[in-house]
Amino acid sequence: MAQNKKILKPNGKVSFAPSILSADFSCLKKSLKVADKCADWLHVDIMDGHFVPNLSFGPHIIKCVRQASKLPMDAHLMVSYPENFIKPFYDAGAGLITVHYESKSDTLKNIKKIKSLGAQVGLSIKPKTSLTKITKYFKYIDMLLIMTVEPGFGGQKFMTNQIPKIQYARKKINESKRKIWLQVDGGINSQTALQAIEAGADSLVMGNAFFTSPNPTKMIKKLRTVKKHV
Ligand code: DX5
Ligand code: ZN
Repeated sequence: MAQNKKILKPNGKVSFAPSILSADFSCLKKSLKVADKCADWLHVDIMDGHFVPNLSFGPHIIKCVRQASKLPMDAHLMVSYPENFIKPFYDAGAGLITVHYESKSDTLKNIKKIKSLGAQVGLSIKPKTSLTKITKYFKYIDMLLIMTVEPGFGGQKFMTNQIPKIQYARKKINESKRKIWLQVDGGINSQTALQAIEAGADSLVMGNAFFTSPNPTKMIKKLRTVKKHV
C-alpha cells in the first residue's frame, strides 16, 4: 500500500500545487524533482472522458508518482461516478481527494467515503455552478476548489468572471471558522496568480505555467513573497 501523505492545514501562507497533467511524461521523474524543490504538494487530474471530454491517467500512474516524489498529492476527480475511483486513488497514494458537486453521485456519500478511508476531502465546482449550492458541505471539507476554467484541459485562459466567486468563497470560509484551503485551478500563471491571491485564494494549482516555465523554482519563490489577502 502506498503511503498517503496528508496535506498541511492552511497556515496563513499561499501554497502551490503543480498539476502533473502538463508535465513531460517522457521524463516525469525529472519534472517531479523540480516540483519537489519548490512546491507544497502535487495536483493530479483524473479524467474519465465522460464528466469531461478528455482522458488522463489511472491509479497506476499515481502510484508511480507517489514513489518518485516526496510531496503529498491531491487527486482532482473529474469523473461522473467518483464512488468508483475514491478507493483506487487513495490506495495509489493520494492524501486528499477532491470530488465534483456536479458528478452523478451523491456529494455527501462521496465525502463520507473519502473520510471513511482517512483521507482529506476536497469539493469542487465548475465555473457555472453557484457557490451557494455547496456551502452546506463546508463542515466536512478540507479544501474547496473553484475551477477557473471549464475542466478538461490544461493550458486554458483564466476566467476572470470567477473572481467574485473566489471572493465570496473566502468570506464564507472565514465565517465558517474552519481550516479550509481555497484552491483555484485553471489558467493560473505569474499574473493571474496575483488576481487569485488578491481575491482570497490560498492554494494555487499550476499546470502549463509551471511545466513550461524556464525557471519554475524562481517563479514560485517570487509568488511566495506576495502578501496573502484574506
Ligand atoms: C483542468 C485541470 C487543471 C489543469 C490546469 O481541467 O483541472 O488542473 O491541469 O492546467 P493549467 O494550469 O495549464 O490551466
Ligand atoms: Zn485540476
